[in-house]
Amino acid sequence: ALSAADEVNSLLASYPDFPLDGIVFRDLNPVFANAAAFRAMIDALVGRFQGRFDAVAGIEARGFLLAAAIGYAADVAVLAVRKGGKLPGAVLTEEYDLEYGSARLELELGQLPAGSRVLIVDDVLATGGTIAATMRLIERAGYALTGVGVVLELEELDGRSRLGNADVHAIVAL
Ligand code: PRP
Ligand code: HPA
Repeated sequence: ALSAADEVNSLLASYPDFPLDGIVFRDLNPVFANAAAFRAMIDALVGRFQGRFDAVAGIEARGFLLAAAIGYAADVAVLAVRKGGKLPGAVLTEEYDLEYGSARLELELGQLPAGSRVLIVDDVLATGGTIAATMRLIERAGYALTGVGVVLELEELDGRSRLGNADVHAIVAL
């Protein structure tokens, strides 16, 4: 069997000038659509943080796919970090910067015991704004951050520098 990194490298697709001129969009759908690659990716992320997390937080939308499988494989709780305005009840909100303007992410309170150890997962670490906002939500909720797992890190955007001293693991860095 190929390693998770080999699977991702061999399957990911690149689209120049999408969604804007000058941006090379990395498409991970072919990785998710390959059963062996998907399993290798989930096993790699679970193995990297094995025994160190009580819950996995997935970021809308593509992080949900990873968090669901990781939660099942590792037998831990699953949290959905959602785009603004979608969650009822008591929620925490964090704003983050986009290329143009800003967006909000939210976390519903009261899902886990205080101090629960949480692994954050998403498909891509680009500028880091999305994951940095999620880290603030996890901290404000009273949870302990185990680390951050992503499939792909886009190194030229330097997102890692916005994540403080978090334990960040990328299956592939480009
Ligand atoms: C993409 C990607 C990450 C984020 C990375 O999601 O899935 O969540 O951008 O960018 P950053 O590191 O520069 O913050 P997007 O906001 O496009 O939302 P989607 O998953 O709902 O398509
Ligand atoms: N691919 C997928 N998601 C992304 C990208 C990308 O190249 N950049 C920011 N989010």
